[in-house]
Amino acid sequence: MPIQTKICNTPEEVANTATNEIVDLIRNKPNGVLGLATGSTPVRTYAELIRINRAGLSFARLTTFNLDEYLGLEGSHNQSYRHFMNHLFFARTDIQLWNTHMPNGVAANPYLECEAFETKIQACGGVDLWLLGIGHNGHIAFNEPGSPPDSRTRIVDLAEGTIAANSRFFRDPKAVPLKALTAGIATISEARRILLLANGKAKSPAITRAVKDTPDPICPASFLQNHPDCTFIIDTEAASGL
Ligand code: PGA
Repeated sequence: MPIQTKICNTPEEVANTATNEIVDLIRNKPNGVLGLATGSTPVRTYAELIRINRAGLSFARLTTFNLDEYLGLEGSHNQSYRHFMNHLFFARTDIQLWNTHMPNGVAANPYLECEAFETKIQACGGVDLWLLGIGHNGHIAFNEPGSPPDSRTRIVDLAEGTIAANSRFFRDPKAVPLKALTAGIATISEARRILLLANGKAKSPAITRAVKDTPDPICPASFLQNHPDCTFIIDTEAASGL
C-alpha cells in the first residue's frame, strides 16, 4: 500500500492536521491506545492537544505508549524521554500517568523490559494510532539504518549522527547515551494507523527515500510502505523531493 501524503503549507498546519486526526480518534474511542514520539517535530501537536484537552475533551481514559528511551537514563533525568513526555505533555493534560508506558531506561534487566513492553502493548489490545517523527537518516524511533522489518523492542546502538545530533542537549558530551531501548519496526507496524510528521528541507531526502524507494533497511521508514494505513503529514519543504 503506498504511503499516503498530506502536504501542508506550514509546520503549524502539519500540527493542526495531526491534531485533528488524533482528536477524531479520541472522540470515537475515548479509551483508545495512542502511540507517541519525542523529538522536536511533535511538540506543536502536543501543544494543540493540550489546548483541546483544556477546552474540555478528556484524555483521562487514554492509554499511551512511547517509542523509545535512552538506556541508562533515569526517568527523572532532564534528557530522558520520560521526563520530556511528562513535562511537555502528560502533566499538562488529564492523561493518567499510570496509563502512560515507555521502556524504562534503568530497568534491572533491560532485555526483560523490552519483552514486557511488547506484552503490555498486546495486553492493551494494540495501538490504534502511532504518531512518528523521522530522522535525517530515515530512522523511525531508534531503528537506525540496518534495522530489519521484523525487529521488535530491543536494545540498540545509536548511529554516530544521532549521537552527534543529541549531544547538543547534554552539558557533558561524555554523558550522551550510546544505546537506547526502542520499539522495533514490526512493533510500530502493528499499529492500526500510523501518522508520520516531518517539517523542513533537511528532512526531504529521508521523506523521498521512505516514500519512493523499494523498502530496504538502509531507510527504515521505507518499511512503512508495507503498512495498510500510513499517512505522512509533511510541510512543503519536507515534501520537496516527492
Ligand atoms: P526531530 O527528531 O523531530 O527532533 O527532528 C525526529 C527523529 O529523530 O525521529
